[in-house]
Amino acid sequence: MTIIRAKDYQDLSRKAANMLSAQVIMNPSCVLGLATGSTPIGIYKQLVEWYQKGDLDLSKVKTVNLDEYKGVAPTDPQSYRYYMDSLLFDHVNIDKDNTYLPDGLARDPEEECQNYNSILQILGGIDLQLLGLGHNGHIGFNEPGHSFGTETHLVQLAQSTIDANSRLFDKPEDVPRYAYTMGIKSIMHAKKIVVVASGTDKAAIVKKAFTGDVTPEVPASILQLHGDVTLVADEAALSEME
Ligand code: GLP
Repeated sequence: MTIIRAKDYQDLSRKAANMLSAQVIMNPSCVLGLATGSTPIGIYKQLVEWYQKGDLDLSKVKTVNLDEYKGVAPTDPQSYRYYMDSLLFDHVNIDKDNTYLPDGLARDPEEECQNYNSILQILGGIDLQLLGLGHNGHIGFNEPGHSFGTETHLVQLAQSTIDANSRLFDKPEDVPRYAYTMGIKSIMHAKKIVVVASGTDKAAIVKKAFTGDVTPEVPASILQLHGDVTLVADEAALSEME
């Protein structure tokens, strides 16, 4: 694993955006695996800036997102589709038909999971997967204790995840309890993985995930077994690594 040490959040965002941008320049029709949460916001902002300057062309890029809340409409500002549209897709020249997220309103969850797996297969796999890190070590919405061997599935979110997400909702009862997520198996198939972590509140889990035991209790620990992982983290998030 390579660790890229960033001074602060802005520096982290620029460094990680550089990796995504380099991937697109090397292969303009690549498949990017994208993540939500607060950490990638600065990356998307940076990519929009480079696009506006004429330095980035996303016209042939395809994207697959890690996850989506179940029961939340794509037009709902809390949905991950809305997040991706408003922070990135609406501001660059990507073809939205080439951007994929699980359908939160799908009638049949089982069928939706199969659909999403087929999309991943048809796209031919992910060239670069961007990942954030949950405080409990989750990646996507793969919560602690789940098998490493899963593909897209529906998960019941851990209470700690529901609590962490409640800051983004008006009322605690509005926080979704279920979500679709790409499984660990699919994530591990990505050719290249870039993990981003920022802030002292991520320091303990960064240390545990990247230097501790590989165990389903810390889903991100499996990344230690991937051949091409780069952790881009700021000094605060790396403060327990020394
Ligand atoms: C959510 C997302 C994850 C993300 C995590 C961390 O749970 N499903 O993909 O990595 O939040 O988010 P943040 O970057 O806000 O800490």
